[in-house]
Amino acid sequence: MDKMKRFQEFKDKTTINVNGEITPAEDAKISVFDRGFLYGDSIYEVTYSDHGQLIFFNEHLDRLYNSANLLNMTIFLEREEIIKEALKTLKQSKLERAYVRIIITRGETEINLDPSTSFKNNLIIIVKPQPPYPQDNYTKGLKLMISSVLRNDRKSINPNAKSGNYLNNVMAISEAKKLGFDDAIMVNHQDKITEGTTFNIWMVKDGIIKTPPETSGLLKGITRQKVIKICREQNFNLEVSDFSSQMLLEADEVFMTSSTKGIMPIYQVNDKIFNNEKIITNKLSALYDELIQEQIRNKEFSYL
Ligand code: PDD
Repeated sequence: MDKMKRFQEFKDKTTINVNGEITPAEDAKISVFDRGFLYGDSIYEVTYSDHGQLIFFNEHLDRLYNSANLLNMTIFLEREEIIKEALKTLKQSKLERAYVRIIITRGETEINLDPSTSFKNNLIIIVKPQPPYPQDNYTKGLKLMISSVLRNDRKSINPNAKSGNYLNNVMAISEAKKLGFDDAIMVNHQDKITEGTTFNIWMVKDGIIKTPPETSGLLKGITRQKVIKICREQNFNLEVSDFSSQMLLEADEVFMTSSTKGIMPIYQVNDKIFNNEKIITNKLSALYDELIQEQIRNKEFSYL
């Protein structure tokens, strides 16, 4: 299918809310003076819903406000307002299972890098269908490369701020796709693994589960936090510590975590194939799935 037609079909299935107004995707517009457009001066969150229930929404909102703090961005909107608008958009979409993206920009100002002229945010909520990933992604997994593009240093844009400035990650995934991989893992300037372009990274070696610490330069994923909690509660052997590309390539199991993917195995990194049984990955997946089912039963953020 040609790219334009595909995009049109995508838009037809998408519900958009711009500053409280829900319109067909075609009509949703943001000013050319918006700082998100001009400078990537925005923050965002991605979560999803299942059975008409938003998953871990409180945690995502906490992180949204934390991202704003890390970037000295004022959110002029009350948390309750964001919740109300998100549920309204989901309800309008009528989707039981949806991808939800909440974007807050520093708003429209004169063309001036100095953000102090900002007086109001733009809030954009995008809801689209989120069918489960193909089963093969969970049985076999994905093929990743370690990118030549570095994750930005914490003294630049702190990767723990989920900002709209993802160009390093865009370059990393585009390099990976060109070379036939599904996606990319990024290292820091000390060649320590940080995370993937839109997911956190985990390895298992001799029964020890490892994931990089915040100091490596990463986004503290909500899924990552949940899996850390599961490991601690279930007495798994967990180390939140740095590891190099070389150590990753010598792992027994490698997997990724993100809100939309959950826990997904990785069967190949560069030219190394991991063909061991995914014993720990599968155990953690089952435990994580229980947490999701609990969220669905809790009905904290229902919209249907
Ligand atoms: N990405 N690291 C990065 C750079 C991310 O963008 C994400 C999320 C994660 C995983 O975080 P969480 O478990 O909270 O989803 C890690 C979302 C899914 C996205 O941008 O689409």
